Amino acid sequence: MKGFSRRLVRESHLSADDLIWTMIVSDSVKSREAVTSLPGVERVDIDNLVKDAKRAYDLGIPAIAIFPHINPKLKDGVGSEALNADGLIPNAIRAVKSAVPELGVIVDVALDPFTDHGHDGVLVGDEIINDISVDALADGAIILADAGADIVAPSDMMDGRVGAIRRELDQHGHHNVMIMSYAAKYASGYYGPYRDAIGTSAALRGDKRTYQMDPGNSDEAIREVGLDIEEGADMVMVKPGLPYLDIIYRVKSTYAVPTFAFQVSGECAMIMAAAQNGWADEERVILESLMSFKRAGCDGILTYFAPKAAEWLSESILDA
Ligand code: PBG
Repeated sequence: MKGFSRRLVRESHLSADDLIWTMIVSDSVKSREAVTSLPGVERVDIDNLVKDAKRAYDLGIPAIAIFPHINPKLKDGVGSEALNADGLIPNAIRAVKSAVPELGVIVDVALDPFTDHGHDGVLVGDEIINDISVDALADGAIILADAGADIVAPSDMMDGRVGAIRRELDQHGHHNVMIMSYAAKYASGYYGPYRDAIGTSAALRGDKRTYQMDPGNSDEAIREVGLDIEEGADMVMVKPGLPYLDIIYRVKSTYAVPTFAFQVSGECAMIMAAAQNGWADEERVILESLMSFKRAGCDGILTYFAPKAAEWLSESILDA
């Protein structure tokens, strides 16, 4: 086939419109600092976050997702810092929204960056207490919405949190703030570099298997996503991405709702490790991985590769 005919009959398309750039902002880093286990990704201060946000906008990327790297001194057992209206993330949201108002800002709702035990909820003894956690998460979501977040993304996997967040948002006049729920989030080995990046790896006690999903389950993902949609999620996410393309496909075919994948830190680290060794062609493999999400049914992808992918896509290299 000639190049022109391949373009004519191609079923899936990838562009900057599909990308959400995942960024890590820090309250203790001066300027920029590389994350060793996540080549190409940096923790940045708020000024540099704003610079990257402007770059995202210039590249045609519709939205960014911001994650916090919090000074350990601010962490405690219940993640109180998540409720600080003058905390790192609320300040980061305000800075980005005033510099680039048209860029969508997505923020995680979870306690793990703020707790001294690294869990997403409130830990009592060695148990995560679901309902107390849900109250704390809903309160945290209001702080983020007040600061100007466009989309809040509960990544904690507690039961009932989407409904609680929706009610609180509405009661506080945030009808237009959307919820992207981490609806099918697996207890995964692929989150390692992220936990290094936000400084929770060393602190994390035990694992997250009591609230994140078993990698062996697929029907359960359909139930989890269904609950979140009923509770008011505007869009849903499957996470990790590439190892769970079958889940993405099932979710999209079952519910036909806006569906996103999170190409998580470990997926990006693996590709970069191979690329840096000369064992894989970085550009080709990254764009192929992103295209596979579109083929599986995703409306968009959260990825650390967003800026480089947007640059390559503007050069139309997949057209060859
Ligand atoms: C936790 C959270 C995690 C990620 C985003 N939010 C990891 C975890 O559940 O421990 C992972 C992101 C990545 O690996 O890139 N609320």
